[in-house]
Amino acid sequence: MPTAIINSLGTYLPKKILTNFDLEKMVDTTDSWIKERTGIEERRIADDEETTSILGFKAASAALQNGNCSPDKIELIILATTTSDYPMPSSAALIQAMLKATNAGAFDIQAACSGFIYGLTLAKAYIEANIYKKILLVASDKLSSVINYEDRNTCILFGDGAVAALISNEGEGLEIKTSNLGAEGIYSQHLLIPAGGSKKPASEDTVKDKLHSVKMEGKEVFKHAIRRMAKSSLECLEKLNIQVKDINWVIPHQANFRIMETLAKQLEIPFSKVFRTVHKYGNTSAASVGIALSELFESQEVKPKDHLLLTAFGSGFTWGSVILKKTETND
Ligand code: ACO
Repeated sequence: MPTAIINSLGTYLPKKILTNFDLEKMVDTTDSWIKERTGIEERRIADDEETTSILGFKAASAALQNGNCSPDKIELIILATTTSDYPMPSSAALIQAMLKATNAGAFDIQAACSGFIYGLTLAKAYIEANIYKKILLVASDKLSSVINYEDRNTCILFGDGAVAALISNEGEGLEIKTSNLGAEGIYSQHLLIPAGGSKKPASEDTVKDKLHSVKMEGKEVFKHAIRRMAKSSLECLEKLNIQVKDINWVIPHQANFRIMETLAKQLEIPFSKVFRTVHKYGNTSAASVGIALSELFESQEVKPKDHLLLTAFGSGFTWGSVILKKTETND
């Protein structure tokens, strides 16, 4: 059976920085409250021209360049996003056009903040089944386009960004060893965008009532996020028949410093092994785990045969974990 390997990664973060001090001027909040409760200091915000597909295209171009791969070699583009440019067509198709990836199929998946993990799982399945040999997984979200910047419960948390991973059946990089996915749709009302879909199409009232932005019951999300990421991580370890002590790095969804800290305690893993970018980018939704993975990979801290545990949780609720193993050649 072929193995699925992440050969290269690329990211794109918009240039504009929104700091906690900027938010102090917009809503009733403080830098110290945000830092203490979430660990976030600043986040990136895309400009009007930088749509989800453009952020994704820039990350995809970087991943292809880092992997020395031309776009025509790509057979499939999977985009994980909650903030597609249009309800139709998919933003994956827009990225396909911008890349001129003339031999690729393209579609979007929607698993909110678990999107990168869901995408890795799909890519692994396609490659192991020998259906495709080269896949570009992109995770891109422009959460700023669905945030109400008068709602202090949500506007402090999110930022914009994109990541892409070139995944193939050969070469060096990070082998996708195993994965585990879950969902519990009965909790959909705890974290959602109420209008703009078939249930409540856009109308004057939905706009007036600000129903096109994220509504969240933070405490519920917090509680479920820890429980689900911990359980799913342990199930992944069991599937691969390895122990917590065999994990060299944990990359959890970058939503909140305290969620990561509690998760590390529950997994009995030193917090120093938990890689974090939340302080500088906030929660970039589908892209969050992938952006952190890319920064860790670039830092040269990942050694041959290291095991990396990725775990995420998001609206749905959805969750999932993946274990990666660095291939033996250190290049
Ligand atoms: N600044 C100042 N005060 C605030 C702010 C703010 N930005 N936001 C809320 N508060 C107030 C509340 O109104 C409340 O005041 P009250 O006691 O007078 O009622 C008080 O602070 C405490 O509020 P809590 O909601 O209890 O604060 P908590 O410690 O739970 O932190 C937070 C809130 C940061 C949102 C936390 O619950 C959290 O991180 N939850 C998970 C969020 C998350 O991960 N979301 C993304 C999921 S992934 C996806 O799919 C998008």
